[in-house]
This record gives sequence, structure tokens and C-alpha cells, in this order.
Amino acid sequence: MPVSQIEDNLDPEKLPRHVAIIMDGNGRWAKRKGLPRIYGHKKGVEVAKSIIIKSRELNIPYLTLFAFSKENWQRPKTEVDTLLLLLKEYLQKELPLMIEKEIRLKIIGDTEDFPEELKKLIEQVEKKTENLKGMTLVLALSYSGRAEILRATKLLAEEVEKGKLSVKDINEELFRRFFYFPELPDPDLLIRTSGELRISNFLLYQLAYTEFYFTETLWPDFTEEEYLKALFSYQKRERRFGRIYEF
Ligand code: IPE
Ligand code: IPE
Ligand code: MG
Repeated sequence: MPVSQIEDNLDPEKLPRHVAIIMDGNGRWAKRKGLPRIYGHKKGVEVAKSIIIKSRELNIPYLTLFAFSKENWQRPKTEVDTLLLLLKEYLQKELPLMIEKEIRLKIIGDTEDFPEELKKLIEQVEKKTENLKGMTLVLALSYSGRAEILRATKLLAEEVEKGKLSVKDINEELFRRFFYFPELPDPDLLIRTSGELRISNFLLYQLAYTEFYFTETLWPDFTEEEYLKALFSYQKRERRFGRIYEF
């Protein structure tokens, strides 16, 4: 199906409220071209921009991009430094476009791990976009699903210790209030590129009933067309949430 046709066939009423993406395969993309891995990351940023803009055009309320995992700190320093530099450049350059398109930025992850200057920049962009209502772009940075769950547990335990909460008050809704971004709804659709069939410690708690779309395409080759295909595939699924539907 040509792109325009896929878009025409999408039901605007049934689009996911929250799409989460594991943008994987930048290094392999560069290697296949005989280039250093950082070229893959550079191209990956361009692709991320186009998917952010497409999501906004489609009126998808929340888009979460896994940009840097807690485990990614174990990569060579030169690669980590390049990724941090690309992030800094992205935040500096794209702020006007985010404001124009009414995109609010939120970060999930342990941003304390970042250099002071980058932390400040993140805070500034979050602050300058906090009242924008078009779409929320969530960047997962130094993110680990297990770390998020443990952090929530500790924060909750502190409240109990201080006598501000009682054990009997603990339920799923209360627990979520201690996540990095409590308001974030669970993803309806998770996309992972590059052919890997795993979660890699992303949004472990939140993915309980998410629909998954895996593709062999490497992230730098991921197009708007393939994004539309993923959304189309999502719309054909029957989400049962454990129930059954009578004939
Ligand atoms: C995804 O691409 C980007 C990050 C994890 C930051 P990779 O860098 O993991 O690329 P591959 O998986 O090695 O090809
Ligand atoms: C997941 O990709 C993290 C990001 C996309 C930022 P990785 O490339 O780090 O995951 P593994 O190592 O293949 O599981
Ligand atoms: Mg990878």
C-alpha cells in the first residue's frame, strides 16, 4: 500500500494514545556502511525528529522515545560523549520548533547521572514547554525500568516510615504516583526496530498490556511509511485485557 493510502486507511478515532519506541540499530546501520557508529546515531536523531513531527500531525497525545538506557553508560566513553552531545544539540536546536508545534518535553530516567550543564538544559526545556498542550514528548534518558520500580518503592516506603501513608493505602494507583512521570498513561503500542525481540529494561511496569510491533528495519532506516504501517497493524489488533468477547 502506498503511504498516502495507509494514512487514509487509519482510523483517527482508534490511534494509540501513547506510542513508545525503542530506537535500536544505529550502530549496525553505520557499520554496514563502513562508517563509525556515531554516524548511525546522527542519522538516528534525524529519524527521531521526523517521527516526532509525524506523531504530532497525527494528534498522538504521548510519544516516548528510549534514547539512552542506564546500561548504555557501559559503552566506550567516546560513544557516550557523542550521544550526550547529540542530545544537547537536539535540545538547543529544536526548542523553537517544539514551541511552534506545541510539544511539551518530559524526561524519565536518572537525570542526576548527567553532567551539570546538560541537567540545566533539560530543566530549561522542560520548564519552557511545560504548558504546551499539543503533544507530550517523553525522552527516556539514563532510564531503567527496574530502577524506576525500585525508586518508587523506596519513595513510597519513606512516606510510610514518616507516617504520611499507611500500608493499607498502597494500591496500583498510589504506587504509580512515585514514578518519574506519574501522569504518563501506559503505552498502547511499543515499537522496537533492528530485529531484537526484547524489552531491554524499558518501561517494565507500564508495558503490561501494551501491543508490540517488532521490525527488522534499523532505526536510521525507519520511515514515516513504516510508522504508519505499525499504527495500521495496531488498529487491527483486538485488545482483550484478559476478558472474552461474546459472539
Ligand atoms: C540505538 O542504537 C541507540 C542507543 C542505544 C543509544 P545502538 O547504538 O544500540 O545500535 P546497535 O544496536 O548497536 O546497532
Ligand atoms: C536499548 O537498546 C536502549 C535504547 C534504544 C536507548 P540497546 O541496544 O542498548 O539494547 P540491547 O543491549 O541490545 O538489549
Ligand atoms: Mg542496540
